Formats: sequence, C-alpha cells, structure tokens
Amino acid sequence: MMDRSEAARQILRDNDRGGYTVPTDRLYPFQWNWDSAFVAMGFASFDLARAWSEIGCLLRGQWEDGMIPQIVFHAPSDDYFPGPGVWGIRRDPPTSGITQPPVLATAARRVLAADATAEGEARMAAIYPRLRDSHRWWAAARDPGGTGLVATLHPWETGMDNSPAWDRALDRVPTGTRTAIRRRDTSHVDPAFRPRAIDYQRFIHLVEVFRDAGWNPARMLAASPFRVADVGTNAILLRAEKDLLHLASRFGTPEEASEIATRIARMETALEHLWDDARGHYLPRDLISGEAIPFRGSAGFLPLFAGQARHAAALATRLEEWGRRVKALVPSTDPGDPLFEPLRYWRGPVWAVVNWMIAEGLHRCGETAMAARVAGDTRDLIAAEGFSEYFDPITGQGIGGGTFSWTAAIWLLLEEGMAS
Ligand code: DGY
Repeated sequence: MMDRSEAARQILRDNDRGGYTVPTDRLYPFQWNWDSAFVAMGFASFDLARAWSEIGCLLRGQWEDGMIPQIVFHAPSDDYFPGPGVWGIRRDPPTSGITQPPVLATAARRVLAADATAEGEARMAAIYPRLRDSHRWWAAARDPGGTGLVATLHPWETGMDNSPAWDRALDRVPTGTRTAIRRRDTSHVDPAFRPRAIDYQRFIHLVEVFRDAGWNPARMLAASPFRVADVGTNAILLRAEKDLLHLASRFGTPEEASEIATRIARMETALEHLWDDARGHYLPRDLISGEAIPFRGSAGFLPLFAGQARHAAALATRLEEWGRRVKALVPSTDPGDPLFEPLRYWRGPVWAVVNWMIAEGLHRCGETAMAARVAGDTRDLIAAEGFSEYFDPITGQGIGGGTFSWTAAIWLLLEEGMAS
C-alpha cells in the first residue's frame, strides 16, 4: 500500500491539468483561488517548479484592477455550474467576477522559503508586484473608507458558502433569477451534503446584480444586498499583508512597505473590534445593518492565524469545550448551536485547510497543546478516511468530494510540522 504522503503527492499530480490543479475531478473542474494557494504550499514540499506554476496560472486570471478571481476557467467543462456563460465575463482565460480569501501572499512566501535559490528569487520578483496590486485592490475596492475591515459581497467570496453566519444577511437577497439554475454539484455529491436550492437562487441572484453593475467595484459595493465583514477573510488578509510586508522588504520599495504597514496597523485595530466579550468569540459583522452577527464558527479562530494573540487562551478554551461535543475538531459551526448540521458543507463539517490555519495560529500565539490537538485530529481524519473534501465532526466520516487537492496539500504541510 502506498504511504499517505505518497498518496497525497499522487493526488496533486492526478489533479494537475497542465500547470494548475483542479480542487477535485468533475465536481470542481477549474482553478480555484484559495484552493490553489494551499496547493502551491503542498507542492513546495516536493516539486518547486510546480508550486510556482500553480501561482503563475492563478495570476493569469488576475484583473487589471488587481483582483484575483475566485475561479479561472482555463479549459471548458460542463461539470460545474455556474460556468463562464453565467458570469458573462469576456476575458482570456475567462474568470468569475468575485474573489476568495486571499491566502496567496502567504503561500508565495512559503514557496520562496522552500526555494531559496537565485531562480526562486527571480520568480518571486516577478510575482511580487501582482500580489501588491491584489492587496491594493482589497483596500480600494472593498474598504474604500479605510475602516480596516474589507467587505465580502457574496458567500462564495468568504469560501464558507452556506455557513449559518450568512443566513440572516442572505434573507435580504431576493430568490428570483433570470438565469436557469442547472446545478451539477448535486449529481456528483449527495444533495444532503450540499447547499440547498434556495441558497443557490440567492447565490445566482447576487451574480446577476454584479453583472448588472458591469463588474465595477464601486457599483458592486453600493448595489449588493449582501455585504459582510467576514472574520475569516479579514484575518487571512491581515496575515497575508504581514507576509507581503516581509516580501516588500526584499522585492518592493520602502514606500510600498510603509503603505502595507499602515494598512496592517489599521486592520489589527479593526479586527479586535470584532471580538465579542459576551460570546467570547470573534463575530462577523453585517455591514448593511452595521450589527454583529451572533454566530460562533470556525472562522472566529482565524485571527490567531494573523498573529492576534490577545484572546488566544479564551479561544483555546472554547476549542476544548467544542472538543468535548465532537470526535474531531474543528467543526465549522459551534456544535452547541441549533443550526449545527454535521454533514452539510459549511454548516458543521471539519475542513482540513481551516484546521491547518487554526493550528498554525494557535501555535504562533503560544497555545501549543491545542495546536497539536487540532493538527492531530486533522491527521487522524485523513489517515482514517482519505483525502475527502470535508469530514463529519461527530463520526469522523469523510464526505463531499473525494481525492481533494487541498486536503492532500494540508497532509503534506502537517508532515512538515508547525512553523516556529
Ligand atoms: C462551489 O461552487 O461550491 C464553490 O464553493 C464556489 O466557490
């Protein structure tokens, strides 16, 4: 039998479509933004050229304004809805018109650390301006008022599509669509493990709103009936800004470094405003009502990944509590919440990429015992069930798509141990 690490490497090779990787065969037949960032880090452990090309292919989809899209449609496929026709964006390669959590600068820094050669430096020098532009896009397009928190305009942008966190905010989104909804995901995966029909109606309604806004960032921001400050996206961006600052000291100018440092200071303060003492958790905010969303989810631990250590002990205690209710950490929804659904996509299941970021964050913030537990649970799930898309926290069963690239990448990262 092939050992687990070799099996993980084989999944990345099998999901390679010629320089970029699909998240898994059929269910997701294109290149996805944050999936690719994790995949690049996974490749860095055994194939540096391939790690760089994963990043390079994703950047082929970058827009002139700096946005790195959620999906790059490198080659046609009928296996996924909504495909390029629904987005209606004429680019080569075609892309979707929204983004995803910005893990890329963090990934690029890690790939460079693994490739400390003149060639690695040259590759990074070419990529750095693209990363700089993408972070400028986040600030200009999604936080034009300079609050220190960026807005996400679609649940797909948060990466946690159907999290209960978005239920109330999505109530404002009409369910009518001009587009015929022809889902493919539910023919690849049990519909009970996927978002519901009404979720998709709203997801597609939002796409139509943005299309009508001509994909112009200011018009999208103004027109969107869904506008939230997601803890996950903001924490991941803050971490990425710190990694970009590190890269700027070698590949950028002093002015760029100070521009990034200014944004970091603002974000650090703003992220702490999302901490809710009564609930002992970082809570997302509905930017239309201006109110905190009273939901405790796995994204609430991600400020640790950005190095925000102030509430590390409280968050580790919270994980301990959750851990008494489930077999495997970290469920995507508080297992004591009536909205917790252990099998349905982002409403309860454990996701290896989120676990890795949480474990990394706990480690970096001094909670090493809990970091080891989260990392250990992740390894145990994968060892028992294989490289599933997500896992039932109650039974440990692997669910969703199989042979998932990012789950394989996380196995390889966990093999390398936590960064000190
Ligand atoms: C999907 O289609 O399920 C993806 O999560 C969108 O990014």
